[in-house]
Amino acid sequence: MGIVVVGSINTDLVTITPRWPEAGETLLADGFAVLPGGKGANQAVAVARLGGSVQMVGRIGDDGFGRDRLNGLRAAGVDVSHVRISPGVASGVATILVEANGENRILCVSGANALVTPEDVDPALLDAADLVLLQLEIPAATVAAVIARCGAKVLFNPAPVAPVDPAWLRGLGYLVANRIELAQLTGRPTGRMDEVVAAARRLVRQGVGVVIATLGADGAMLVTSERVAHVEAPVVQAVDTTGAGDAFIGCFAQTLVATGDLDAALVRAVRYAAVSVTRRGAQDSYLDAAALAGLEGFGP
Ligand code: RIB
Repeated sequence: MGIVVVGSINTDLVTITPRWPEAGETLLADGFAVLPGGKGANQAVAVARLGGSVQMVGRIGDDGFGRDRLNGLRAAGVDVSHVRISPGVASGVATILVEANGENRILCVSGANALVTPEDVDPALLDAADLVLLQLEIPAATVAAVIARCGAKVLFNPAPVAPVDPAWLRGLGYLVANRIELAQLTGRPTGRMDEVVAAARRLVRQGVGVVIATLGADGAMLVTSERVAHVEAPVVQAVDTTGAGDAFIGCFAQTLVATGDLDAALVRAVRYAAVSVTRRGAQDSYLDAAALAGLEGFGP
């Protein structure tokens, strides 16, 4: 049936800056853009752009940002029939600073995303899904309810990182986290590759089937109870890393559902995320399948 994303929909207010301003300092920036974002919506758009069937469950407010996001998701090929509108509430926004080296700092105001309840999620939709994508930009109670119903076919992205109920991890299908999230979830260092593997193994011992650490320029590490696989990232010139993790997850999910091949999904997702950082924005940086395939010789 395809992929269901239960998650956030944001408008990203992006400022390009030569450096981070100090406290109390005013700085002249290099550019500004209003772009589609939200971890849930980003992941859904990546799936759709690569040709996957995807349904979005979430909430927007009854404002211009929300209407623009809904239209944008529809235009990208995401089924938005399960996106609800909360009257009198603002849609989610994220203030994003992108520095010259492509690194970002993000502040989210949840708005309508904070009103996504377990009742918003149709159980029949979950039961019919091949894979369900979850992040932490909607209430924990909703995340918990979805995991309780269909944990084995859930891909959970604990971002922005927050305390996770150990019960969520028992029987969870997939967990995808970056170094910082992995460290905070496990209370372990993740600076070195062996430390990443040890932290991921801890989550596997707690009941997760497949743990993937996304490592930016260092690629990605997959850890299960049986094996460890590391995929190197191609060397690229990053201009904006916003939404790279979402690109990875959308591509991984779409490829896994289409092929059933975990390793192929990992390799393609590393590649897809690497391309995304060479382009500005989150959803705006996601290629379609033909453009991705056309990047011949682009590793790994
Ligand atoms: O992961 C990137 C996203 O995080 C941005 O699009 C922003 O909206 C925040 O949700």
